[in-house]
Amino acid sequence: MACWGILGGSGLDDWKDLNWVDEVSISTPYGEPSAPFRVAFLERDDRSPIKVFYLPRHGADHRYAPHRINYRANLWAMKHAGAQRLLASATVGSIDSDMRPGSICIPDQLIDYTWGREQSFSDDGAVLHIDFTHPFDEALRQLLIGAQTTKAGDAIVHHHGVYGCTQGPRLETAAEITRLAADGCTVVGMTAMPEAALARELGLPYALLCLAVNPAAGVGQSAQSINHDSLKQVMEQGMVRVKSILLEAIKTG
Ligand code: HPA
Repeated sequence: MACWGILGGSGLDDWKDLNWVDEVSISTPYGEPSAPFRVAFLERDDRSPIKVFYLPRHGADHRYAPHRINYRANLWAMKHAGAQRLLASATVGSIDSDMRPGSICIPDQLIDYTWGREQSFSDDGAVLHIDFTHPFDEALRQLLIGAQTTKAGDAIVHHHGVYGCTQGPRLETAAEITRLAADGCTVVGMTAMPEAALARELGLPYALLCLAVNPAAGVGQSAQSINHDSLKQVMEQGMVRVKSILLEAIKTG
């Protein structure tokens, strides 16, 4: 049976409206994943059902800040539970001023600004220099792009983007965002790394669906500060779309 993993980001810490049939706790050589995995079976009209594992990367109660997430345990557990492909969601700040809050971006590149995170499984003698030229799996990206045409509603969807991954948990300064923009980043978040690289080390195709929830620091409405209240509202509304795009992509994949 085909088996997919979903790594849910901020706003997707608890996925209530899916028929979860099981919950599994998985121990790993790297410690505990952020939460037990929930299990669901997605029915498809004329094809066999698909098994889905869902893991909120910040923990069910959003207890793990981006720099405290045990990315290695999360990814290792997905692989050993049997997931063959991974989709992830993340909220981001938009650096590209064309990208309004509420719009969706399916990035094709990233730049890593994080530090001090466990970046690799190959710290025990067997060094693996993975190819990471294209950090997101193109076939999965195309599935997300195809799914959004039916499930994104009136949200604007950007088919390309450069995700700048910052350390957090604080948001960036305006000058940091100016620097990221000069580097070519179009969105900024805190969790795609090392998640994407660890998935690649394990041979798991991985793609990311981003929901822009605020203009990044210093950009547009965030010229003076980032408004947390409006950010929450955009997140709640956008997650309905994020969930249906993820499920549609899996069903068509
Ligand atoms: N910066 C970093 N991560 C984020 C942001 C941001 O502005 N918004 C949502 N996640």
